[in-house]
Amino acid sequence: MKAMCRNLVLLFKVGIVLLAFSGCGKNEDNPVETSIVKPTANVAENISKTSFTASWNRVYMAQAYQLDVSTSKLFETFLSGFQNLAVSASFQDVTGLIPNTTYYYRARTTSNGKTSENSNSIEVKTLPDLTNVTLKGSAKDLYVGTCVQASKLTGSYNSILVNEFSSLTAEYEMKMNIFMPTQTSFDQKSYNFGPGDAIVNYASNNGMNVHGHALIWHNSTPLWIQNFAGSNTEFESVIKTYITDVVKHYKGKVKSWDVVNEAFEDGSESLRNSIFYQKLGADYIAKCFQWVKDADPEVLIFYNDYNLEADLKKRSAAFSMIDNLISRRVPVNGIGQQLHISYDGPSKAQIETVSQMITSRNLLVHYSELDIRANPRNELTSLTQERALAQKAKYKEVVQVFNALPKANKYAITLWGMKDNESWLIDFWKQADWPLLFDSSFQKKEAYNGFIEGLMN
Ligand code: XIL
Repeated sequence: MKAMCRNLVLLFKVGIVLLAFSGCGKNEDNPVETSIVKPTANVAENISKTSFTASWNRVYMAQAYQLDVSTSKLFETFLSGFQNLAVSASFQDVTGLIPNTTYYYRARTTSNGKTSENSNSIEVKTLPDLTNVTLKGSAKDLYVGTCVQASKLTGSYNSILVNEFSSLTAEYEMKMNIFMPTQTSFDQKSYNFGPGDAIVNYASNNGMNVHGHALIWHNSTPLWIQNFAGSNTEFESVIKTYITDVVKHYKGKVKSWDVVNEAFEDGSESLRNSIFYQKLGADYIAKCFQWVKDADPEVLIFYNDYNLEADLKKRSAAFSMIDNLISRRVPVNGIGQQLHISYDGPSKAQIETVSQMITSRNLLVHYSELDIRANPRNELTSLTQERALAQKAKYKEVVQVFNALPKANKYAITLWGMKDNESWLIDFWKQADWPLLFDSSFQKKEAYNGFIEGLMN
């Protein structure tokens, strides 16, 4: 009887101790036999093209864990060998995966033959396989272009151009100061079409698109036009003839033209006080667009400008001008966002907003002169790995924004140059930078991978 009482007291004490433990059952470090604590899954690590490491927090007193990996968010199917996979550590390498594919994983705690509930599930995407990938091969519904110079179409330039790009733009050899450097009688023979023709013929021999740039730009007017001595009527006739001759010369070979480039002042709603504005008046833009379409009804015609993303006044003026053209049925097919930007700005939202303003008007979007400065504050003397990755991320972001636009509105993304050391920006800002996809030895940079990843997402 005494022994029975002692046993009862003992049982009672054990009960109290057990109750005390079960009171701590909500503490994840103290698993309870009947309600086993579930693990918390962590983000995947060591992500490669074909593998990643899944991990979760260690649950106190857990004997082991079970891991599920699936391509389905709801775990309706499982990767072979990854359903209830017993794992003793709190991580597991998951291998043999397909590149650029999304997987999900979750884990459970096991103890004394029982399992916990599922952990949270983690989404992870394997890296794309870039071995045989090219820019143009990865692009759907858009041209990937670059600007070129007629003297740089051979050797390594040629290999990269034909392998990677589906569209070309002349960096400067199809502007007015090159086509028409001195006063002309408007006889076809007096135009300097040589370098432009070399670029256009090269593109056509290699099955590439050509975007013409730029018919009217205040920065490429030859001196004799800049100092035009005749009447305004004569000036109009000169410009109309120029546009008509150039567009007809390239009819059927140049698919699109930037008709007017950079027509507005910075930080203002005013038209730039160019010779074109002075001599032809505010309606010169409409006239130029109409002359181009009259010369080649098939050609696509663009208005092109920079910093529409951050310069709200210029943006508003440019879109008012476009709306005015549309309301008067003056032809216009698209708008070029030049996108000479930096790794840290403008923001994704700012870029997206302008693109959406273009698509909402049913026009084509051209990211027409893309380059991304890695050194806008001039604190670097070489491209650090950290900055190269930041630049890569920005390229990816920009390309993703373009890629997400409606198919019918996508025209092209054109890079403003191929190799870092030949970028116009170095001369323009007089400081070191590495803004493009290829380095000075024609090697692909992280930025290149960012561009490809943007196209794949
Ligand atoms: C630049 C070219 O890159 C230079 O080679 C040339 O000397 C001047 O023009 N916005 C434009 C482009 O629309 O035409 C400019 O290109 C860069 C800024």
